[in-house]
Amino acid sequence: MTARGRLLKMGAAPQNISRGEERIGMNKNETLKDGTAVVIRDLKLDDLEKLMAFYKTLPPDDRRYLKVDVTARDVVRRRILLTEQGNVDRLIALVGDNIVADGMLEVSRDDWSRHQGELRVIVDRAFRRRGLGLLMMRELHSLAVGRNIRKVVAKFMRPQEDARRICRALGFREESLLPDYVLDRTGAAQDLVIMTADIQEFWKEIESFYRATDWQRCQ
Ligand SMILES: CC(C)(COP(=O)(O)OP(=O)(O)OC[C@H]1O[C@@H](n2cnc3c(N)ncnc32)[C@H](O)[C@@H]1OP(=O)(O)O)[C@@H](O)C(=O)NCCC(=O)NCCS
Repeated sequence: MTARGRLLKMGAAPQNISRGEERIGMNKNETLKDGTAVVIRDLKLDDLEKLMAFYKTLPPDDRRYLKVDVTARDVVRRRILLTEQGNVDRLIALVGDNIVADGMLEVSRDDWSRHQGELRVIVDRAFRRRGLGLLMMRELHSLAVGRNIRKVVAKFMRPQEDARRICRALGFREESLLPDYVLDRTGAAQDLVIMTADIQEFWKEIESFYRATDWQRCQ
């Protein structure tokens, strides 16, 4: 295990990690609360078919509020290629050969908001409430620290109440609500809720989840 990995397992916040020219690819073995083994690694273009299969398993209720149409192969392919622009990190979790979670960190390209990183995580319904969302958040946090992000941002449509509740528990505050600002997949206008958290506050809350359970510490 790397020194940083040990720090994370001990519940200590990672210090700023110099990113250098290019980030070393992630590939970690983790265990969910129920003992399921998962691999968390960078998403590559080769994973396109697996990713399409994962998105296909999402119920329409989950897909309805996503930023893009994940049933469109071209859209999904272009989104993977965004990682080559340098401001987007994508992570996936795999059980065996199947993707069971998808995570994204998108750093703002505007100079005045270059300290902001937007987080997105989606977990296969069959794998929820086993700690996978938290593991993905932890890895995205670590990538955000490596990119000197100070503020993490999450954007939701108003009906995504569970997601907003979880983000509140992770230290996010609702900063603004833009009425009828976005369209869901059915074409209905929805209010956009923007939530932000200070990176240290975010870490403190992730850590407190780990403190509340012996799950990661016992491994
Ligand atoms: C949000 C999401 C990623 C959580 O994934 P997950 O793997 O179920 O999360 P975890 O098992 O790590 O849960 C961590 C904690 O979050 C809270 N939580 C998770 N799901 C919750 C729910 N539906 N309602 C209330 N609290 C919830 C719990 O406190 C949970 O800890 P506990 O199970 O020990 O009580 C998942 O529900 C999802 O993919 N939702 C749809 C996409 C989305 O809304 N993403 C928003 C994040 S950007």
